[in-house]
Amino acid sequence: MKQKLIFTNLVGEAIDGLIAELGNPQVAVVADTNTAALVLPILVNDSKAVADATVITIPAGDGSKSIEGLSELWQKLSDMEASRSTVVVNLGGGMIGDLGGFAAATYKRGLRCINVPTTLLAAVDASVGGKTAINFNGLKNQIGTFTEPVAAIISTIYFNTLSDQEILSGYAEMIKHALLEDDATLGKVLAFNPVSPLKNTVGLMPLLEASVDVKRRIVEEDLTEKGIRKALNFGHTIGHAFESFAAAAKSPIPHGYAVAWGMVAELVLSQMKKGFPSATLHSVAAYVRDNYGAFPITCDDYPALIASMRQDKKNASAEQINFTLLESTGHPVIDCTATPEEIGAALDIYRDLLGLA
Ligand code: GLY
Repeated sequence: MKQKLIFTNLVGEAIDGLIAELGNPQVAVVADTNTAALVLPILVNDSKAVADATVITIPAGDGSKSIEGLSELWQKLSDMEASRSTVVVNLGGGMIGDLGGFAAATYKRGLRCINVPTTLLAAVDASVGGKTAINFNGLKNQIGTFTEPVAAIISTIYFNTLSDQEILSGYAEMIKHALLEDDATLGKVLAFNPVSPLKNTVGLMPLLEASVDVKRRIVEEDLTEKGIRKALNFGHTIGHAFESFAAAAKSPIPHGYAVAWGMVAELVLSQMKKGFPSATLHSVAAYVRDNYGAFPITCDDYPALIASMRQDKKNASAEQINFTLLESTGHPVIDCTATPEEIGAALDIYRDLLGLA
């Protein structure tokens, strides 16, 4: 079954409509401590299904995506006597979607769930495509499933409570989707600034719809990431290395920022190895430099960054560092590899483009 995508700011109405379509089952709302305080009270007013639901509140933060957090969630589902027909509504960002989705996918061999993302990052990425997971052994998303929700209800009303940094973090995934689509889409995304001079959630909605549609089409073709879904990893090999490097230095960076910087470096690699157009590389790099700044690295950091890339779970073996590269906008090439020398050369140019050298 393909997941339904509903774009609306009338979220309560949309939830009630879906719950009625599903036969008015028992409902569990999984929220984190932030969304339980800020979003839930409004939804309780706007939705009878939410008002009548059992609410399960999880401590906010990635620490909850653990075997202990999962066990607690299963326990709460058991306490409320959840049955196969129970519907789980995940109300939150990526953590809630991953954890609530995994608990729902595994409890009694699978409960249906509806994702209501409250961050731009979750709206454009995690709430679509069925990836669910918890972290394990210090590694992110090690245990999980591909289980699509029945629906995602995508709205911009919650974004006004997000910081500019959180909005830009989600917007980086929209730049990625535009790079996977075509030059016209990329042009629109680079001409828009979601936070300047004010948060522009009205202008964001049509771009968001188009962006989610890029992911929807890719996932429909390849849910379990055997082929074309790997295109969605564009920017993430180097981006994850930046993220791990920053975390190891105890100064973590937002995921989307790491992806924005990773995309610039991987566009350079794309130009070197696949002939990606230089003008487009420069336009994306200028947008990233102006809005995200730069992740500060020197050539002394390359060995540690490349060692981190070697450990990426997307690699077929520790010797090969795997990338998705682009021949041009809308033409990804999956399963590419690059040598440490090529990666070092790309990082040199990344530093130049973002004004670090
Ligand atoms: N975040 C990439 C994917 O869902 O495949």
